Amino acid sequence: MRNRLILVALSAGTLVVPAASHAADLKGDPARGQARYESSCGGCHSLDQNRIGPAHRGVVGRAPGRAPGYAYSAALRKPLPVWTPARLDAWLRDPPALIPGTKMTARFPDPQQRADIIAYLKVESSRPGR
Ligand code: HEC
Repeated sequence: MRNRLILVALSAGTLVVPAASHAADLKGDPARGQARYESSCGGCHSLDQNRIGPAHRGVVGRAPGRAPGYAYSAALRKPLPVWTPARLDAWLRDPPALIPGTKMTARFPDPQQRADIIAYLKVESSRPGR
């Protein structure tokens, strides 16, 4: 049931027309994204384990605040729109600007790097976890 919901959300996400001039317009490279994910996000995140931040597998197309067993801030436990590539782009640019009160404050100003990381998360979100 949960997988089916994620699939529905994923296909809905592809219909979203991203705002101009954001990383969502750039073509992301998942292989480059993996290396960038490991260096930029790996200190706090992994795909399959909660660390300082929540586990990421399945995050694309899922509502915020849903990694099992992770203690989110009140800001991320509120009902919020699902993580589409465009919302992830806005998040990585400036997390507290998108969701005030979040405890993730790392910002990633390079649009190509964001596009690569989002492409990687998208590929991994559709693969089964460990
Ligand atoms: C310094 C630690 C830190 C770094 C570096 C960091 N994050 Fe986070 N991240 C967090 C924390 C803490 C949260 C939980 C936020 C909350 O509960 O308010 C979070 C939450 C998230 C969420 C929301 C997940 C969900 O289940 O709703 C996403 C997506 C995310 N981070 C992506 C990234 C990506 C991609 C990178 C690298 C480009 C990154 N983060 C780098 C600490 C970090």
